[in-house]
Amino acid sequence: MNTLFLDIRDPLQNTDAVNTAAAFIKAGEVVAMPTETVYGLAANAFDSSAVHKIFAAKGRPQDNPLIVHIAFVQELFDLAACVPAAALRLAEKFWPGPLTIILPKKDCVPDAVSGGLSTVAVRMPSHPGANALIRAAGVPLAAPSANISGFPSPTDVRHVMDDMDGRIAAVCDGGNCEFGVESTVLTLATDVPRLLRPGSVTLEQLREVLGEVQVDDAVLNPLQVGQIASSPGMKYRHYAPKAKITVVKGTAEEFYKFIEKYAKKNDFALCFEEDVPHIALQCVTFGQADDPFSQTHRLFDALRELDEKKAKTVWARDPDPQGVGLAVCNRLYRAAGFSFAKNSITVGITGITGAGKSTLTKLFAQKGFAVVDADEIARSVTKKGSPVLVQLADVFGEDILLADGTLDRRKLGARAFADAESTKKLNEITHPAILERIRTAVLDLQKDGKNSVLDVPLLFETGLDTLCDHTVYITADREIRLDRLLRRDGLSVQEIEKRMQARSDEAYFTERSDFVLVNNGTDALETLFEELYTEITKQ
Ligand code: TXA
Ligand code: MG
Repeated sequence: MNTLFLDIRDPLQNTDAVNTAAAFIKAGEVVAMPTETVYGLAANAFDSSAVHKIFAAKGRPQDNPLIVHIAFVQELFDLAACVPAAALRLAEKFWPGPLTIILPKKDCVPDAVSGGLSTVAVRMPSHPGANALIRAAGVPLAAPSANISGFPSPTDVRHVMDDMDGRIAAVCDGGNCEFGVESTVLTLATDVPRLLRPGSVTLEQLREVLGEVQVDDAVLNPLQVGQIASSPGMKYRHYAPKAKITVVKGTAEEFYKFIEKYAKKNDFALCFEEDVPHIALQCVTFGQADDPFSQTHRLFDALRELDEKKAKTVWARDPDPQGVGLAVCNRLYRAAGFSFAKNSITVGITGITGAGKSTLTKLFAQKGFAVVDADEIARSVTKKGSPVLVQLADVFGEDILLADGTLDRRKLGARAFADAESTKKLNEITHPAILERIRTAVLDLQKDGKNSVLDVPLLFETGLDTLCDHTVYITADREIRLDRLLRRDGLSVQEIEKRMQARSDEAYFTERSDFVLVNNGTDALETLFEELYTEITKQ
C-alpha cells in the first residue's frame, strides 16, 4: 500500500490535507493522526471492518480494546450507556486533554473496539490536528498508539513512518507530541474509580476531583501468573526496545557508583541530562531529574534512540514516582520488563580467635545483612564422602574420620594446627573449594542487590577482600581472648595458643583493613558496631 504523507501541522491552513485524511476515514481506511500524547492509528469507530484494519496494521492482539476519540463532550452520550456526574466533572476539568474515561458501552460500539468487553474507553484530545480530523470525518475515531505492537509509542511523525509506511492509507504530520506518553486511563465502571494507566493527568489531580481513586496493581507491578488484567493492554510486554534495560534503584550518587562497579565498556546509561558528566558510558538522556514533563516528553524517543544505537545492555535511572513521574515509572518499568538492580554493601570481617568476630557478624545479620560464613562453607566442603575429605584423610591420616565416615574436626584441628607446615597443607587442600563457594555466594547476593557480611578468617590472605566494599578487623588483648576461648570452646590453653600462633601478626591486618575494632570490653561491642554501621552506610 502506498502511504500518503499529509502535513496538518497547521490544520486551519492545511484544510485540503485534513479533508483528504477525513475522506480516507469515511472510506473505511486507517490514517495516522497526531495527538498531544502520542500519535494514533485512527479509523471510524462505528465501522468494524475499518477497525479490523487497525489491528492488522499494528499486529495487535484482538482482545486489546481501543480508545475512542471525540471532538465534543456531547459525543460521549453516543458511546456510553450511562454517563455519571463524575464523568462530566472530569470532562469539564481535563477535556480536551490527556485523560481517557472508561464507561459501560452502548450496543452501537462494535466488539472490535471494546475487545469484547462491555465497556468503552473515550477521550477528547486537545491537539488541533486531531480535533480537526475528527470533526472533518464526522464520526468518533477509534485509535490506539501508532506503533507496531510491543514497540515504543511514536511521539514524532518520523517514528510513525518507521513503523507504518506501506501499511496504512495516510500519515498526518502534526509535529512533535507535547506530552510524549499516552493518556491517563481511568475506569468509572468499577465501584471505586480506578487508575489503570498513569499519564500526564496525575493521580493527585484525579483525587482532587473524585475523592477516592484506587491504583490498579498493574501500574507498577508485573501481572502475576493467572491474574486477569483490568486493562487488557497491561498484560502485554509494552514499550519494549530491543535492548535489555535494568532500572537501578537509588539516588544519583548510587547510580554512578553502580555504573562504575558493574557496567561494561559497551553498556549504555539511560539517564537524566545532569547525570552525563558523572558517567563514563555512552548516555541516552530522558529529561531532567526534577522535571517529569521533560521525562515523559523524551522517554519513548530515548528508547528508540537506544535501538538505533544498537544498545544491548542499558542501565536506567529510577525516576521519582510523584505526580507525572508515576507515568514515567510505569512506562520505563515495562520497557525494562520489571528488571531492577540496586547497589549492595559487602562487608568482610576478619579477626583473631576470641576477638568477637561471630558476635559482630550477628549484629550485621540483625540489620538484614546476609551472612556468608567461611566456617560453615568449610564444613560443607568436608562433608562425608566429599573429594576434599578424601584428600584430607590421605594427608592427615584415616583416623581423622569417625566410624560413620564423617570428619572428626577436633582431631583434624589438633594435627593441622600442630605446626606451620601442617597448617599450610590443610589450607592447600581445602581453600580452593571453599574459596570458590564463597565467591559464588557473594556474587549472587551482589547481583540481587542484597547486603552481605563475610565472616572469613583469611579474608586478605585469600584475596576475598577484593569482593568487599569495606573490610573490618576485630581484635582484643591476648589475655581477654584466651579467657573467652577457654570458656567458649573448652579447648586447652596449649591448643588455643597454637591456633593463635598460626595467625599472621597484628600489623598485617591493621594495615589492610578499612576499620579496626578493639573489643576489650571497655565499650560494648554493640556500641562499637553502631558507630561502624553508621560510617559504612553513610559512604
Ligand atoms: O494517549 C493515548 O491514549 C493514545 C492516543 C493515540 O490517544 N492511545 C493509546 O491507545 O495509547 P492504546 O491502544 O495504545 O492504549 C489503550 C489502553 C490499552 O492498554 C487498552 O487495553 C486500554 O487502554 N483500554 C481501552 N479500552 C479499555 C476498556 N474498555 N477497558 C479497559 N481498558 C481499556
Ligand atoms: Mg499502545
